Amino acid sequence: MNYRHAFHAGNHADCLKHALLLPLLEALKRKPTPFAVLDTHAGCGVYDLGASEAQRTGEAERGALRLMESPSPALAPYLAALTQAGFPAFYPGSPALIRAALRPQDRLMAVELHPEDNARLKAHFKRDAQVAVHKRDAWEALRALTPFPEKRGLVLIDPPFEQEGDYARITEAITLLRHRFRAAIIAAWYPVKHRAPVRGFHHALMAAGITPLLAAELWLREPTDPQKLNGSGLIVANPPQGFAEDAAAILPALLEGLGAHEAGAGTEVKWLTP
Ligand SMILES: C[S@@+](CC[C@H](N)C(=O)[O-])C[C@H]1O[C@@H](n2cnc3c(N)ncnc32)[C@H](O)[C@@H]1O
Repeated sequence: MNYRHAFHAGNHADCLKHALLLPLLEALKRKPTPFAVLDTHAGCGVYDLGASEAQRTGEAERGALRLMESPSPALAPYLAALTQAGFPAFYPGSPALIRAALRPQDRLMAVELHPEDNARLKAHFKRDAQVAVHKRDAWEALRALTPFPEKRGLVLIDPPFEQEGDYARITEAITLLRHRFRAAIIAAWYPVKHRAPVRGFHHALMAAGITPLLAAELWLREPTDPQKLNGSGLIVANPPQGFAEDAAAILPALLEGLGAHEAGAGTEVKWLTP
């Protein structure tokens, strides 16, 4: 396990993933009954943007920090959540953003396998009765911890894509969850480096018969260099009502806020299956 999110916290991929995560959580709060969230690849929880890892890459400077320069109304909930979590000194990862959105009746299960990151995550949520931190394999946890007793909630899948096969593991996980936990909203992040693997991923999801399925993507330049993280996307299975419209407002605001003016930059929100 070489990937450490501390080098990348607050980059354009986090902006996309986290800005879209918030309306999913808001939708769950429309009903008073409890929900749970499973964050299968949780990371550290919170990242110090002054730390050497963040400083070395400068990714947050070109990402979330840049958004603060010309805040757009479509990004207001995301930027407010960041500020509440201590931004710009700190950047909140997915478990911190999810935790901040929970009501007293809701809970979070956060899974992180890396020993150091898991220790930091555990320390962050120490004595928090609404959060359970697990040190186990994400793909195993996904089977073991679903369906939730609450019978509703969100599963966030955010692998590092450092190994071959993460696209296929996501397809398998979403297929499994759609069969055994019909009510769950499932969101999975994926890189857009080059179009070909993304097309293959979308086709595999469609071939698996998963419905309904929405893809929301943002790319900073034409994705033709497979060595570069040119953009990223979020696949959402069983998205809540209104989410496609939210995503269609958020993504162009993000692109503008990130100052992505290179030729070929763009966003897209599309239904892969109805
Ligand atoms: C992209 S980062 C997660 C970022 C986090 N979701 C966020 O948005 O703030 C991916 C994380 O998955 C962890 N990881 C990688 N393989 C894993 C596995 N098989 N099971 C659990 N965690 C894993 C890595 O250590 C890393 O912290």
